[in-house]
Amino acid sequence: MKPKVLVARAVFPEVVERLAQYFEVESNPRDEIWSPAELVARLHDKLGVITTASERIDADVLAGAPNLRAACNMAVGYNNFDVPAMSAAGVMATNTPDVLNETTADFGWALLMATARRITESERWLRAGHWQKWAYDMFLGADIHGATLGIIGMGRIGQALARRASGFDMQVLYHNRSRVPETIEQACKACYVGKEDLLRQADHVILVLPYTAASHHTIGEAELALMKPTATLVNLARGGIVDDAALARALRDKRIAAAGLDVFEGEPAVHPGLLEVPNVVLTPHIASASEATRRAMANLATDNLIAALGFGPNAGKPPCLLNPQVKQK
Ligand code: GLV
Repeated sequence: MKPKVLVARAVFPEVVERLAQYFEVESNPRDEIWSPAELVARLHDKLGVITTASERIDADVLAGAPNLRAACNMAVGYNNFDVPAMSAAGVMATNTPDVLNETTADFGWALLMATARRITESERWLRAGHWQKWAYDMFLGADIHGATLGIIGMGRIGQALARRASGFDMQVLYHNRSRVPETIEQACKACYVGKEDLLRQADHVILVLPYTAASHHTIGEAELALMKPTATLVNLARGGIVDDAALARALRDKRIAAAGLDVFEGEPAVHPGLLEVPNVVLTPHIASASEATRRAMANLATDNLIAALGFGPNAGKPPCLLNPQVKQK
């Protein structure tokens, strides 16, 4: 009998076919959103699961999933996993790093450009039929070229964002939990500064740090107050890194010029204050959503699950294991 696995959200059909070579697969082609109790009920007899950032795997879920040996996230961020609880329960945790770096950095730039140059705001105005005549001061925005970019979170995506900035002759400042090696700083032409200095000096701030208890509300009222009134803020990272209510107030009061957000506290709900202000570009968590990259992420999550459950070329050694200390069941 094949081991049983669960694919918690709809995925590319070929992923389910790949898994079916090794496992009895329960999938979710209608992409229903299961409550934690429904997820637990489905996990009860499963050895493995492919999750997305919307399924939480914590001590409560693990208590109802006694056979679970691996949970493989189809995302690089894994704040939906309680990794210590998973390790204690003998459950391997994996994510999908690297395959999305360049695509996510491309999107960060798209969001930055759209935000600084007021692309979506002006398009909404045009579609609404307001364009009667051209005027010299229509939708004046902020320059990207020659400006100072501040990147908070200098991991692989932060570095890919920084490398792109040289084409725009930008000065790049970064802040990170720890300074990255000098060779990386040189390759990215990026200069390490404290968070407050970055916020004071940057014309455009991009957030690409992981969400943890320590990074909760990295940008709140006090941090927004340090930014230039002409500055823009882009959140590519996770909801909760920014205090969305404080940001909505800052945008409404024009304490910063504009923001571009791909992630939100409590998504898919969006803070009503953000929906009311014109100077924010809002996208539904799609930074890694190119066709090729989403396929690469789905396949990497699949490689991880196949290996974690002892099959394929990496049997027993999933390529992206987050908790190597786990005592395998
Ligand atoms: C997307 O948000 C990811 O973490 O991959």
